[in-house]
Amino acid sequence: MKNFIYKNPTEIIFGQGMIKELVTRVPADKPVLFLYGGGSIKKNGVYDQVRAALAGRNIIEFGGVEPNPQLGTCLKALDIVRRESVGFILAVGGGSVIDSGKFIAAAAYFQGKDPWEIILHKGANITKALPVGVVLTIPATGSENNGNAVISRRDTQEKLMFVSPHVYPRFAILDPAVTLTIPQKQVRNGIVDAFTHVLEQYITYPSSAPLQDRWAESLLQTLAEVGPVTLKDPANYEARATFMWSATLALNYLISVGVPQDWSTHRISVEITALYGLDHAETLAIVLFGVWEYKFKDKQAKLEQYGRNVWQANSAQDAIDRTEAFFRSLGMKTRFSEYKINAEEAGREIRARFTKRGVVFGEHGDITPEAAEKIILMRA
Ligand code: NZQ
Ligand code: ZN
Repeated sequence: MKNFIYKNPTEIIFGQGMIKELVTRVPADKPVLFLYGGGSIKKNGVYDQVRAALAGRNIIEFGGVEPNPQLGTCLKALDIVRRESVGFILAVGGGSVIDSGKFIAAAAYFQGKDPWEIILHKGANITKALPVGVVLTIPATGSENNGNAVISRRDTQEKLMFVSPHVYPRFAILDPAVTLTIPQKQVRNGIVDAFTHVLEQYITYPSSAPLQDRWAESLLQTLAEVGPVTLKDPANYEARATFMWSATLALNYLISVGVPQDWSTHRISVEITALYGLDHAETLAIVLFGVWEYKFKDKQAKLEQYGRNVWQANSAQDAIDRTEAFFRSLGMKTRFSEYKINAEEAGREIRARFTKRGVVFGEHGDITPEAAEKIILMRA
């Protein structure tokens, strides 16, 4: 096991009816920016619960954060934050709303000219941020319990992540009851995203960390079990609760302490979303299998272990096939051609982008721009 330091400062408040806990968590002496998405919270009662919990407070609303949140939208909210001297950001939604809340929180104290520099420096230039609180409405990204944010830019077709210890949410309220209204497509996306988060931290090479391996395997088994139940029986509160907690644990980086991590699938996938607009999970479900095929030899030992312990599979290839069959059983496509995307064109463009940025990644640091292109071509 490698050395590690682990700190996760987010308070998790879990369960039905817990949104009322906002009253003691959100500061009463400062204007609060209430950030939300396209309006699902107005249909499913979450908006009313938040308003009721914060009755009498100085609340400034900002709705309309889009999936794959845009820089332009964040900058509009930032203007309001500055104008109204906002002292706290309450993000009510999924990864998109939470990520934009984190970006706005960091941008509020950013001294440079252009807040996009936060992204260009991957968050390393953040020294302070407004406090952020979260009411999570969709299990998927883990953003409610980590320091990541992914922001998109339409004019340059970019989608990039930053990380900072300053933007961890102070608290995250997870009420599974509010997830009962998530459309099937988003449930499917959430299962695949959370599942892939675990795989990125687990399918690397053996590293004498049996506890972390078993945490990862138990999360994968649990997601494989409750994900389909959630799709078939959307009113099943217990399945929703287990799914919600699993998705949070899948990316609060506890399972990756002391072990190698990959993240190639995510690195390539966000570029596909930036270029072609597919949902985050839709791109993961294609790219993952290219990464595994390309890195088959290096990952074989962990793929065999995963297959044995999660799927009762008898080989690494069997483990890969079962994973693809699982994604497809959820209704996910796993090839570019199924979205009428030209893999050669995508591969060329993404290789050029990675070359320009000078990036390599993967657990061995050997996914070069050329390797990324090959991975994309394998999924044509
Ligand atoms: O916008 P509204 O109207 O609220 O509708 C949303 C949106 O259309 C809807 N929704 C959310 N909760 C609902 C609901 N509909 C009905 N009932 C509810 N309770 O779901 C749609 C998707 O929302 P979004 O926030 O975009 O989904 P998700 O949580 O999957 O977030 C995706 C974003 O997070 C990034 C992704 O790249 C993408 O931009 N990620 C963030 C990560 C992080 N911060 O750690 C890691 C991930 O790998 C990922 O990259
Ligand atoms: Zn993801």
